[in-house]
Amino acid sequence: KNDIYSTNWDVIVIGAGAAGLMSSLELPSNLKILLLNRNTSKRSSSRWAQGGMAAVTRIEDSEDIHANDTIKAGAGLCDSEAVQMFVQSAPRLVDRLMKLGMEFDRTSGKLSTTLEAAHTHRRVLHVKDRTGKALVDVLNEQVDQRGNVLHQRGIRVTQIWVERGKCSGVQVLDGPALRWIQAKAVVLATGGGGHLFANTTNPTQAAGEGIALAWRSGACIEDLEFFQFHPTALKLDNAPSFLISEAVRGEGAVLVDSFGESPVAHLEGKDLASRDQVSRALFQAMQKQKVDHIGLDVKSISVEDVAARFPSIFQRCRELGLEPLKEAIPVAPSAHYWMGGVATNLKAQTNVKGLFAIGEVACTGLHGANRLASNSLMECLVFANQMRNIELTDYVTSDILGNNLSFNKSDLRFSKEQGTSYLSKEIEKLRQLCWRAAGVDRSRKGMNSALIKVKRDYENLLNEPLLNLVFSQSKYEINEFEELARRDLNLLLDLSNRQMSSLLMLEACLFREESRGGHFRDDFPTSVPFWQCHTRQMKGKNIHT
Ligand code: SIN
Repeated sequence: KNDIYSTNWDVIVIGAGAAGLMSSLELPSNLKILLLNRNTSKRSSSRWAQGGMAAVTRIEDSEDIHANDTIKAGAGLCDSEAVQMFVQSAPRLVDRLMKLGMEFDRTSGKLSTTLEAAHTHRRVLHVKDRTGKALVDVLNEQVDQRGNVLHQRGIRVTQIWVERGKCSGVQVLDGPALRWIQAKAVVLATGGGGHLFANTTNPTQAAGEGIALAWRSGACIEDLEFFQFHPTALKLDNAPSFLISEAVRGEGAVLVDSFGESPVAHLEGKDLASRDQVSRALFQAMQKQKVDHIGLDVKSISVEDVAARFPSIFQRCRELGLEPLKEAIPVAPSAHYWMGGVATNLKAQTNVKGLFAIGEVACTGLHGANRLASNSLMECLVFANQMRNIELTDYVTSDILGNNLSFNKSDLRFSKEQGTSYLSKEIEKLRQLCWRAAGVDRSRKGMNSALIKVKRDYENLLNEPLLNLVFSQSKYEINEFEELARRDLNLLLDLSNRQMSSLLMLEACLFREESRGGHFRDDFPTSVPFWQCHTRQMKGKNIHT
């Protein structure tokens, strides 16, 4: 393992979901690549993706139609060049994936396609309701075979290092030590931030960590107010939220309220209207009827063997005592996908030289204010594909200070005063606050007081001496933490990164005084032409368009 610290890496990739794995495969094979995975398990948002991957494969469909659907969903904020590159590359990347071993579902030998919200054609390729898992399994297998890629699990990046205007490596928390690793370039592929909210379809680690890392390194962050809320996450007391794929409605399932009526009958597209509209309609119906869920009736699905088409969903429902073929599945809107992120160009470059961002952490301009369903796994592949032409410049190095510092649990202010469980409780409180203030329905009053509170809490947390050291602008190393100090440091990092990305999001939500795509405000309920522009945030600068 010490090789990690003695090797001269060309590129460090942070995150091992679809974006990180595919970037590692697409980077030229003569480069030495270190793929850092915070988890020891295979868990990632990509792996949890159910619905599928959008690409034109049918004769009656076309890239122009796919582009139009994407742009319409994006509510005036898509970048047309990003959309063109995406729709044109997608079919080629489907072929590439199949050559790598991906086996999409087929009907009579032809690729099967399903429909999801706001698609005018059936173009979503799938592997039952486990498309994400099938994809990352194939990519993991390929990465394991690459001699030039070292996939290292259980190492958490704590800082992206920028020196003389160029990204030159990362600081990591590796077991009981805080260390530095240098590289010529860094690819950020850390995923999104659904877990900033109390209700989400995302795994725990999708908590905006990449946004906090990038912002601290001086990267430009764009459009954080645009968050997509998926209308149909399973809603059962004492059961974790679980996505009920839109493909279920794509195959004919319908939403029913507590009176047996459709809560989406008034929407153009009804059950398959855009996600923001359906989510808001469900939210309003739930408030009016004073219930915490809406029903999803799957009995009308036309697929012959519905349980075989959606095996994971049926299995999860049955494990929880639900029989979807006899009763409606209880569902409610949940935070699902962050359209905003680290601003990148078509080559996945950020404004920081040597720093790239790919996948949900990035804001490429493809999704605009609202993502078209199933465009995101494919976006990971399309932008990772750009890594094949990466241009590297030489190392920028500097000395490491304070090598051999030691840190004990007794040095931690929070542990001494409140204990570790205090930090976990603070994280939960923050998630509830974000859901109330910046969930499906937003207004100035709630967001303002949430922003004031989160800012105050963040500044307070920064007084913690250990965090100060980790975020220091000097290169400190710590060779050995006491076990407890390490556990607490992980929680301190979780909380501070969550606070950082929540406050950036709240600031962006307050700044945009209109409603558009995934951003809906009670106090400014319509879209305004003046706001057909992007929101930008950078360290040391006021938020601007
Ligand atoms: C779903 O299966 O409903 C989610 C697909 C997506 O978010 O793209």
